[in-house]
Amino acid sequence: MLAKKSGGRILADNISDVDTIIGMQNVGIRYGQGAEVLSDINLTLRRGSFHFLTGKSGAGKTSLLSMMYLSQKASRGIVKIFGRNIAFADRDCLALLRRRIGVVFQDFRLLDHMTAFDNVALPLRVCGMEEREVRKRVTELLQWVELSKKINDRASTLSGGEKQRVAIARAVINRPEILLADEPTGNVDSDIANKLMKLFVELNKLGTTVVIATHSERLITDFPFPRLHLQNKGLKIYRPVVLDGTERRL
Ligand SMILES: Nc1ncnc2c1ncn2[C@@H]1O[C@H](COP(=O)(O)OP(=O)(O)OP(=O)(O)O)[C@@H](O)[C@H]1O
Ligand SMILES: [Mg+2]
Repeated sequence: MLAKKSGGRILADNISDVDTIIGMQNVGIRYGQGAEVLSDINLTLRRGSFHFLTGKSGAGKTSLLSMMYLSQKASRGIVKIFGRNIAFADRDCLALLRRRIGVVFQDFRLLDHMTAFDNVALPLRVCGMEEREVRKRVTELLQWVELSKKINDRASTLSGGEKQRVAIARAVINRPEILLADEPTGNVDSDIANKLMKLFVELNKLGTTVVIATHSERLITDFPFPRLHLQNKGLKIYRPVVLDGTERRL
């Protein structure tokens, strides 16, 4: 399929376009022998885009993000991430691709016995960064998410909102090419939620492709990004229309 030209820009409309960073074609996902929880998902996310992901509880947001993070395989269809057909990627290849993706899990998945600092430092240490640079970057970021006082506290002793901010800091510390965040502001007050959103927007301006699952109507209204909406096992895309404040389905 040829790419469409719009206002002088080439739009990715095919999962194989060079501009497509996450592509899915006729994808279904099921757990074990159960019925599909998502069916016939077709999706092309362009490099550098920013999307919300919405849908009722149980609609499949975490399942879709798991596929994007390469921890859940599609039961049918084609999934391409960074242009690679994931069906043909071996374990080592998947591990390398995952290093290019930052993820904030809905249940945080921090290493409980480690401090906030060590959790956030982990992705940098895995890449072999020099310890002085690790210390500088991690300290700055934890300060920015207002966790300076908790930097040496074990993750198991932190509150839900504090754990969430550590999980976010760990996901973004490496400036990933893709950031997938599952309800990243679900446990914090609206001031901190706004601050975290600013962090995601800044990262996006630096080139990161962002997908944020949320139940927050306020975030969706306040930040006019397109929305991937899951309903009846399928996906619809809504784009905000700035003129009258309503959304329209593509
Ligand atoms: N590991 C699993 N085994 C079996 N079924 C699962 C598993 N994970 C999810 N499901 C099912 O898949 C469906 C979608 O779940 P998912 O967690 O993706 O929804 P969600 O949109 O993220 O919900 P929420 O907003 O509550 O987080 C649900 O019916 C759920 O029961
Ligand atoms: Mg979920």
